[in-house]
Amino acid sequence: MGTTIYLASISVVAAAVLAACTEARMPDRRDGAAFFAANCVSCHGAEGRGDGPLAAGLATAPADLTMLSAGNGGTFPEARALAFIYGDPVQGHLARVMPEFGGAMADDLVPVEIDGVLTPTPRELAGLLDYLESIQQ
Ligand code: HEC
Repeated sequence: MGTTIYLASISVVAAAVLAACTEARMPDRRDGAAFFAANCVSCHGAEGRGDGPLAAGLATAPADLTMLSAGNGGTFPEARALAFIYGDPVQGHLARVMPEFGGAMADDLVPVEIDGVLTPTPRELAGLLDYLESIQQ
């Protein structure tokens, strides 16, 4: 009986701590996976292999996102991937097929080490980077 009450109060404290942490916690691959599911699978496919439902109709085939490290000597190309996804909201790239996601995300920045340099990075991209790195073959 005493043990039950003790355990119950621990879980109340744990829930409060958890709630406080989720406010401020850094985005991780789960956030990235959710962002990916909402914004990227239509072209890149559920597994990121470039075989989404829209892929066949595009002038340029979407990249196989599981092969980014393999195509970069075994190192995940953090800066290049983020720059490409973010795009250039001011100038735009008429030649590219993939949309630019930077315009919608500039406000909420978190510090992320990108290619060894601590870089203010949009929160969505920080989680996305973790996710993309986790699906490399
Ligand atoms: C409308 C289709 C489409 C959507 C949506 C899309 N992409 Fe792409 N993506 C492409 C295409 C096509 C390319 C090949 C480059 C080009 O021509 O634009 C590409 C290339 C890339 C590259 C460059 C790979 C390399 O070789 O460096 C990355 C990284 C990438 N996409 C990630 C993403 C992520 C992450 C999302 C979601 C936030 C996303 N893409 C959404 C079509 C899309």
